Amino acid sequence: MTKSALITGITGQDGSYLSELLLGKGYKVYGLIRRLSTPNLARIEHILDQVELIEGDLTDQSSINNALKESQPCEVYNLAAQSFVATSWNQPVLTGDVTGLGAVRILEGVCHVCPDAHFYQASSSEMFGKVNESPQNENSRFYPRSPYGFAKVYAHWACINYRESYGMHASSGILFNHESPRRGIEFVTRKITDAVARISLGFAKELRLGNLDAKRDWGFAGDYVKAMWLMLQQKEPDDYVIATGETHSVGEFAELAFHEAGLDWKKYVSVDQKFIRPAEVNLLLGDASKARRILGWKPEVTFEELVKMMVREDLKRYEEKRKLAK
Ligand code: NAP
Ligand code: GDD
Repeated sequence: MTKSALITGITGQDGSYLSELLLGKGYKVYGLIRRLSTPNLARIEHILDQVELIEGDLTDQSSINNALKESQPCEVYNLAAQSFVATSWNQPVLTGDVTGLGAVRILEGVCHVCPDAHFYQASSSEMFGKVNESPQNENSRFYPRSPYGFAKVYAHWACINYRESYGMHASSGILFNHESPRRGIEFVTRKITDAVARISLGFAKELRLGNLDAKRDWGFAGDYVKAMWLMLQQKEPDDYVIATGETHSVGEFAELAFHEAGLDWKKYVSVDQKFIRPAEVNLLLGDASKARRILGWKPEVTFEELVKMMVREDLKRYEEKRKLAK
């Protein structure tokens, strides 16, 4: 029998990679999309004829219930969120509504409409925040440092609570930062690789960043969606840290990215106070040994390969733009 999956956040970075993965496995893929004045389908343009899109919003319970009824999914992946940490200080209530309560609305819907469906919650290493140990694993303390972080903690505990209260097959992936050429342009990795390409081709002269010393455990999004799927194939639901086990500073990322284009990052990068956050997560480093042991998951793309992949894709994009402009 053909398996079906409903993905919230299908138009986002992870939604697009997960859709490709599930289509490759023969799933019927449904995606929840919200109404926008201009559709945001660029990341799934190449598979639009293979996925079924259902209009709905994480802030609207009835649209979620309708989407579940229409798709009758075997698996539900809750990837939708206001996912940009910096914005969460300006829009804390919206972030709480979408990123926190949104997860509860989906859990409620699954519980009533399709209680046997396997559920995935996109939890985050931002929940560890001000870390008390390194590396962080599934038992490390949560100390969120932003409205995004505390909304994710709420959603994470909701997922565990629905599992324990109603016996739902609900799992959380505590994913550390994962990037790709499809990463939103506001996140630091893509902001850097996009700027490298623009500077290298003469479209820009400088790059302003915030905290260059913050350290992140950066992996490749294409590897991380495999872990999401593996979690839902297990007999028992559980929570898993997904990470590479390596950490690098923002400065190191920038140095490598500029180097890839033959440029010295120090000549172009400056610090702008505008990008310094009210509270910072200084260091993230994940221990994914549980995922390796139980799911058989490990990352395949290295940090260096990730940086190269992103720089090359952005260079290609701007080179094409330049050709078209001629
Ligand atoms: P992303 O690119 O920002 O995508 C977010 C998705 O959520 C988009 O499809 C967006 O739709 C959708 N969305 C936002 N508000 C919505 C609403 N009110 N109703 C319905 N859909 C809504 O995020 P991502 O990087 O793919 O991350 C996927 C998930 O994993 C997120 O929950 C994120 O918080 C979490 N996470 C990400 C990372 C990471 O490093 N990438 C790490 C840990 C956890 P539009 O296209 O219409 O805006
Ligand atoms: N965005 C951004 N822009 N970040 C900057 C900049 C800048 O100009 N300069 C320095 N940084 C630093 C931030 O202060 C932060 O310490 C780090 O770069 C990473 O920032 P982001 O790329 O915006 O990601 P994030 O770590 O805050 O959040 C991402 O990862 C989380 C998992 O840990 C998002 O994808 C979240 O949705 C995800 O949960």
